[in-house]
Amino acid sequence: MQIQDKVVVVTGGANGIGRALCHKFAQEGAKAVVVSDVDKEHGMKVSKEIEPVKGGFIACNVAVEKDVRMLVDVATDTFGQVDIFCSNAGIGVAGGPEATDKDWQRSWEVNVMAHVYAARAVLPQMLERKEGCLVQTVSAAGMLTQIGSAPYSVTKHAAMGFAEWLAVTYGDQGIRVSALCPQGVRTNMLLNAEFGGGKFLMEGALEPEQVATEVVKAINEERFLVLPHPEVAKYFQNKANDYERWLRGMRKLQATMLPLKTN
Ligand SMILES: NC(=O)c1ccc[n+]([C@@H]2O[C@H](COP(=O)([O-])OP(=O)(O)OC[C@H]3O[C@@H](n4cnc5c(N)ncnc54)[C@H](O)[C@@H]3O)[C@@H](O)[C@H]2O)c1
Repeated sequence: MQIQDKVVVVTGGANGIGRALCHKFAQEGAKAVVVSDVDKEHGMKVSKEIEPVKGGFIACNVAVEKDVRMLVDVATDTFGQVDIFCSNAGIGVAGGPEATDKDWQRSWEVNVMAHVYAARAVLPQMLERKEGCLVQTVSAAGMLTQIGSAPYSVTKHAAMGFAEWLAVTYGDQGIRVSALCPQGVRTNMLLNAEFGGGKFLMEGALEPEQVATEVVKAINEERFLVLPHPEVAKYFQNKANDYERWLRGMRKLQATMLPLKTN
């Protein structure tokens, strides 16, 4: 799919990867780029930055289904349709099983259910036209793991599972699905990461603009897997080829990052 003249919606568009996606879609000649986020101040700023491309800012908490439905309805009423929906907002919290239920639940709602709500709201019009593109920002953690954060690892795996399922189920009906799975990207999320893995990821971190370029390439090629860090494909193969060895390697990596808990 080409971006030219398409109507695009980006959640989590106020900062980081989402902001870079909004800029990139605008440069590529989108008809409209709707910036959406809970962060109104920065979201409005991004929508101004990409002018004269239309779209504006729509406040939406992706964890709330009626917000996501409203976002799709307003974008559709204003611009005629939604061609590309980038479900990009996400959160990371630290911890393992001891993380609070609140953190597990928040992670589930923002990192998984938001994609479900987006698909539920936007798929009917795309299926009717037999054309549409869903981009889900997952993470390399959804294919591998996230050192220091079980809620992030688990919910990103679930997001990957949902993206795969959508691609399998609707691929023959004109729906294109792309799953964005980067390692570190220099954004607020990485800079403020509470878990040890965040610092390790900084070393090979990409700029959000580099990631946005890869997303547009994948949309153009109608490709599922978007790996801005190509080495992730190799790690994924290693995991599939020899799970035990991969686990041993990950334990070694973890040992270099986190002090062992003694209590
Ligand atoms: N930065 C990385 O290293 C990295 C790596 C892999 C994947 N990701 C994923 O990329 C996506 C974007 O993250 P980022 O790195 O740009 O971080 P970021 O913190 O810069 O941006 C995330 C944006 O999502 C918004 N947001 C959070 N909760 C929301 C909600 N409930 N409703 C609407 N908006 C909400 C925030 O306000 C923010 O603008 C996330 O899904 C994240 O998991 C990031």
